Amino acid sequence: MSRNAPIGIFDSGMGGLSVWRELRRELPCESVVYLADGKNCPYGERSAEEIASLTRAAVEELLARGAKLIIVACNTATAMAIDMLRKDYDIPFVGMEPAVKPAALSSRSGVIGILATQAALAGGLFRATSARYSSQVEILSAVGEGFVEVVEQGAEESPEAESLVRRVLEPMIEAGADRIVLGCTHYPFLEGSMRRVIGTREVELVNPAPAVVRRAKWLLEQSGELAEEGHKAELSFVTFADDEYLARLKARATNIDECR
Ligand code: DGL
Repeated sequence: MSRNAPIGIFDSGMGGLSVWRELRRELPCESVVYLADGKNCPYGERSAEEIASLTRAAVEELLARGAKLIIVACNTATAMAIDMLRKDYDIPFVGMEPAVKPAALSSRSGVIGILATQAALAGGLFRATSARYSSQVEILSAVGEGFVEVVEQGAEESPEAESLVRRVLEPMIEAGADRIVLGCTHYPFLEGSMRRVIGTREVELVNPAPAVVRRAKWLLEQSGELAEEGHKAELSFVTFADDEYLARLKARATNIDECR
């Protein structure tokens, strides 16, 4: 595998761009192929079998495009399919970690909130991580109802988005949570609305994306597959949805890349 081969990133939709943004900041010389399914999004209410088979289709596509490492930038797909991927394919995979640990260790109130999709919360990864910290902190979890849809529509700054966020966040804050884990890659796009709801209260949002990218970097360093210094990154985008979706995906990525 050439060092300058692309890193593949996959999500059910545009949410994984919150990980792509970190990747561009941390590893600007890496070429990246971003695959947003788009056609079957949201994944969060699908069955484990459906999510596994959609994830496999995405991985096959990224492998066909020469990915040297794949980041599953989707907590839901990670929860339902990462073990299968590691067993079936001979390439490194980096999945999303539910950031329960940093939230639990830094909480002062002893109460943390986890926001994720229904499938991710039901998955073994989240349950195992929560069990590990449940004696130290109280863990409140909730599904971000409607969050993925507003982010897909690019409506995250709308009043509707803020009221969806308020409905989920307010009870957690009222119950004493001072750390809120963003356990779905779409949710960091709602950070603006979340901050408005939090206001002056001392509540921190915990986004696992930087740690996930550091892990990918470390793996590439270990295998000697980091792109050469000065390599000009090629950025490509793929979707199972239509051309209109692809155009919106590219526009959003370009905008993110300019602000990074
Ligand atoms: N962005 C995804 C995640 O991190 C999936 C959202 C969805 O498709 O429901 O879980």
